Amino acid sequence: MSRNVYNPFGSTTTHYEKTMGKKFMQLKNRFSNMASKSIQKELEYQRFVIQDNLEYFKPNHMKKQKTFAEEITLSLNHESKFINPKYFYDDHGSQLFDKICELPEYYLYRCESQILKNIAKKLTYHITNDVRLVELGSGSSIKTRLLIDALFQSQKDVEYFPIDISNVLIDSTKELCSDYKNLKVTGIIDTYENGLDFIEQYDNKPNLITFLGSSFGNFSETDGKRFLKKIHNLMKSSDYFLMGVDLKKDNDILHNAYNDSKGLTAEFNLNILERINKELGGDFKISEFAHHASYNISKGRIEMHLRSLSNQVVNIASLGLCLKLFQNELIHTENSHKFSISEIESIFEKTGFDIIQIWFDTKKYFGLILAKKF
Ligand SMILES: C[S@@+](CC[C@H](N)C(=O)[O-])C[C@H]1O[C@@H](n2cnc3c(N)ncnc32)[C@H](O)[C@@H]1O
Repeated sequence: MSRNVYNPFGSTTTHYEKTMGKKFMQLKNRFSNMASKSIQKELEYQRFVIQDNLEYFKPNHMKKQKTFAEEITLSLNHESKFINPKYFYDDHGSQLFDKICELPEYYLYRCESQILKNIAKKLTYHITNDVRLVELGSGSSIKTRLLIDALFQSQKDVEYFPIDISNVLIDSTKELCSDYKNLKVTGIIDTYENGLDFIEQYDNKPNLITFLGSSFGNFSETDGKRFLKKIHNLMKSSDYFLMGVDLKKDNDILHNAYNDSKGLTAEFNLNILERINKELGGDFKISEFAHHASYNISKGRIEMHLRSLSNQVVNIASLGLCLKLFQNELIHTENSHKFSISEIESIFEKTGFDIIQIWFDTKKYFGLILAKKF
């Protein structure tokens, strides 16, 4: 059953998404004069208008289900089992992530917020034209408020296009719209890649594309570069790119961030099995698995796994899958790469970006990079 897809967790792009990407381009050519919303309709998006300043687009149920089922079938049938980390984020997973962000051990959230709080004025100094804010993996959009505040210092109106695979986007955007009078929000509940295609089709307004939370670290080196090139290719000369990265640091600090004392990261990791049980009819016994996260120094990344505590058989009814797991067998669920400044500079240079500025928190644990395409 191993089609050539194994690349944890490089490729977040499935065969299905690639096909849809091609279809997007064909449609773009065919309907170049047609309103973009018609194109989205053809791509199986439903449009939800909530109020004057808030709408969101969501792929229809069949499209989503197909992707999840297809990917789980392939990845759990693979010799080295893995699950793509984008599947952490059902409603419960998104809530757990928000709780993780409040943990003392999880410095990433606090450090990036500290930088964002400090740079509002500096950011608008560098961004010389009005921009629309596009956010990849917007989650609860809490840090985003700092960016929205910054943009309102120099713009009368702000448009915000959050892109997130999780429904968390629905509630977070409602809150934003009630808190900001001159904010217009168009959410896209889909993968980063599909969301970027959507934006490219939408119109020609200048964008500030943001990718916070060090989610870039989830990609393999090759796929990270491919992803940045995709962003680069759709950027116009009036666009900016702002990305947060977690920096290399003491191993204990890294280890503790992913092995917190409250066990929330463990719960978050195990929730992916609960999700398969709920949505695909699996019978994973959660108590028969343990969270495992460690820093791989040579690869410069935290590797997160679920470890089978016994020899066991798991069935996933809707996929017709019967999985045999050995005691101590690992299911790989996430990589979180950590970077040195020179590694980041090299990646940006190789993918066609000019770094305008890198900002750091006071401990230099985290970096925020503002770039343009060259
Ligand atoms: C680590 S959280 C970061 C949330 C927020 N940006 C922050 O910095 O706190 C990652 C977010 O990206 C979303 N996400 C993960 N993988 C995704 C993918 N492949 N496509 C779209 N969204 C994704 C998740 O639902 C989640 O909200």
